[in-house]
Amino acid sequence: MNELSRNGRKVALVTGGNRGIGLAACKGLVAQQYDVFMGCRDLDDGHVVINREALKNVTPLLLDVTDAASVNRAIASITEGKGYLDILINNAGISRGVRDKPSVEDLEQAQHTLEVNFFGVWRVIQACVPLMRGRSGAHIINVSSGHGSSTKVDSNNIAYRSSKAALNTLTQGFALELAEHDIRVNCMTPGWVRTKLGGLAAPRSPEEGAATILWLAKEDLNVTGSGQFFKDREIFPW
Ligand SMILES: NC(=O)c1ccc[n+]([C@@H]2O[C@H](COP(=O)([O-])OP(=O)(O)OC[C@H]3O[C@@H](n4cnc5c(N)ncnc54)[C@H](OP(=O)(O)O)[C@@H]3O)[C@@H](O)[C@H]2O)c1
Repeated sequence: MNELSRNGRKVALVTGGNRGIGLAACKGLVAQQYDVFMGCRDLDDGHVVINREALKNVTPLLLDVTDAASVNRAIASITEGKGYLDILINNAGISRGVRDKPSVEDLEQAQHTLEVNFFGVWRVIQACVPLMRGRSGAHIINVSSGHGSSTKVDSNNIAYRSSKAALNTLTQGFALELAEHDIRVNCMTPGWVRTKLGGLAAPRSPEEGAATILWLAKEDLNVTGSGQFFKDREIFPW
C-alpha cells in the first residue's frame, strides 16, 4: 500500500466512466468525497473529459471490460495506487440491433453484447473482490436495465435484454457469496436516459439516470439490503 492509500479516503471505480451515466456517476461520487477511478477505453478521452469538467480526485484508468489483460492491469494499478476499493460501479454497456428480432439478429453482435454487458461485469467483479474484502460499506452496483426484467420482455433487442437479465442473476449470486465478506451487491435501472446509448428523445438526464447509483453508494446495508434490483430508489421487479 503506498502513501495515497493512507489518506483514509474512500475509493470508487466506475467502468465506462467517460460519458453518459458513468460520467454523471463519477461526478456524484466526487461530491460524496470519493477518490474516483474513471474506467475508459481511450485514456486521452478520459483526460479530455476530466479537464473539460474540471474534475478533481478523478483518475482515468484504461479499462476494456472484454479484455482480461486490460482488466487485470487496471485493477493492479488501483492496488498499487490505493490498496483497496470501496465502491465498484459496473456501468459500461452497449445496446446494438435495438429493433432486431431474434430470428434475424446477428449472433456475433449478440455474443458481443453478452461479452460486454454480462461477462465483462463478471470479469471486473472477480478482479475487484480481493480489493474490497474487509472494507466497511463495500458495495458493488451493477447498472442493469428495465429490459432485464422479466416483466418487460418484448420481441426486439433480445441480446441486450438477455444480457441484463443474466446480469441480474449474477447480482443475486454474488450478493449471496459475498455476504460473508460484508460486500453488498445490488443492481439498478436508470430509466430511459439521454446518452449515446439512450438517444436524444429520452426523458431523463444522465444525472437523473445516475441518481439511484449515487443513492445506493451513500446508503447503508439497513436501507438497501443486498441482492436487490432498484429503480428510483425503490425495489424493481425481477
Ligand atoms: N441510456 C439509457 O436509456 C439506459 C437505460 C437502461 C440502462 N442503461 C445502462 O446504463 C449504462 C450506461 O449507459 P449510457 O446510457 O451512459 O451509455 P453510453 O453513453 O453509450 O456510455 C457507455 C459507456 O460504456 C463504455 N463501454 C462500452 N464498451 C465498453 C467496453 N468493452 N469496456 C469498457 N467500457 C465500455 C463506453 O466507452 P466508449 O466511450 O469508449 O465507447 C461508454 O463509456 C449501460 O450499462 C446501459 O446498458 C442505459
